[in-house]
Amino acid sequence: ESGCFTFDPGFGATASTKSAITYIDGDAGVLLYRGYPIEQLAEKSSFLEVAYLLLNGELPSKEEFAGFEHAVSHHTMMHESLKHFFRGFHHDAHPMAMLAASVASLSAFYHDNLDVDDPADRKMAAIRLIAKMPTIAAACYRYSIGWPFSYPRNNLEYVERFLHMMFEVPSEPLQLNPVAAKALDLLFILHADHEQNASTSTVRLVGSTGANPYASVAAGITALWGPAHGGANEAVLKMLEEIGSPDNVESAVRRAKDKNDNFRLMGFGHRVYKNFDPRAKIIREMCHKVLAELGVNDPLLEVAMKLEEAALKDEYFVERKLYPNVDFYSGIIYKALRIPTEMFTVMFAIARTAGWIAHWIEQHETPGARIGRPRQLYTGSGVRDYVPVDKR
Ligand code: SDX
Repeated sequence: ESGCFTFDPGFGATASTKSAITYIDGDAGVLLYRGYPIEQLAEKSSFLEVAYLLLNGELPSKEEFAGFEHAVSHHTMMHESLKHFFRGFHHDAHPMAMLAASVASLSAFYHDNLDVDDPADRKMAAIRLIAKMPTIAAACYRYSIGWPFSYPRNNLEYVERFLHMMFEVPSEPLQLNPVAAKALDLLFILHADHEQNASTSTVRLVGSTGANPYASVAAGITALWGPAHGGANEAVLKMLEEIGSPDNVESAVRRAKDKNDNFRLMGFGHRVYKNFDPRAKIIREMCHKVLAELGVNDPLLEVAMKLEEAALKDEYFVERKLYPNVDFYSGIIYKALRIPTEMFTVMFAIARTAGWIAHWIEQHETPGARIGRPRQLYTGSGVRDYVPVDKR
């Protein structure tokens, strides 16, 4: 062992940056975007307005919002050549794999506007990423089911445009359900940012090297994919399906507590929240409402509620302050909106793009920012002499 550094595995006690974007009080269960409580934004705002807020620090005036919406809706197209990339993927590739690769490839299309020191180029990248993410995400889905790609309808609003690209069938008019669009918009608001989570920290670490915004965000997508992070929403739904019935909840809780069993309650626990994740509270309420309004009766909701109830009164979960997180109920809503399970983390990525790019911009606006370069406590061998292969 050598070195005189603070050992902080998993960065539980290290602030890697200063930031003015998002505030979390994990003990009180408080989440603010630029000072605004998440509950108020969820009730009164829209995802695109929240994206503007995260990027610019203030809520937009009517004119500012109209300008932002106009800019976003004029950059929604995916370059036709990007479609060749999709055709190279296997038909059953995971959509997150296609999304990460496609977003990374954007730096090959927009390299003429990639001066990370130029505020105008940075802004253009933010607009392009927020605008194109739903188009690329819908292409991932349509490719996986063998449907032709769909073009963005720029007369629609952000979330409706996305739903249209997902589900439009050529020659059949698509009736968009306003309840579905409102629900998805709300989920996007709740997922838009969460300070220095693993994927945002990844975006910042990659960004700190001077890498371009598309490469930085693509790295964030890959970090988000893991089941301990954004991949948990997909894992929750698979877990609920596996549990299958409220009768099996007790045995699932028993397994989750067993240290010899790898099974964990997906959608439970959080590094920062030692209280209810405020987003989970909103999503749970919304889950009941959306299912009722859409006339969906999903038995998995009952399994989820029973699981939450059982865990919240179990000593193991109480002692460790493990509560449902943002991913616990979101999958049931996505399912009611006919979003396939493998697309759940893609939904998270669309929304989190606003946060990722806001952090990337903040990082580049901060004077004197340094490359991210953690140290280690070395635990390997001391110095020794090389041994030729015939003497080993
Ligand atoms: C997101 O960071 C963010 O902000 C992320 C996020 C965002 O918006 O960006 O909020 C989104 O990623 C939500 C989290 C989604 N992940 C899951 O739902 C997966 C299940 N949860 C866990 O893997 C875990 O709780 C984490 C990864 C979320 C947090 O991990 P920590 O902070 O490293 O906590 P830990 O693993 O050290 O757990 C402390 C104790 C341990 O027990 P002991 O060793 O002390 O006996 O709690 C136990 C853990 O084994 N524990 C669980 C558990 N989560 C933690 N036991 C059973 N089931 C669980 N889900």
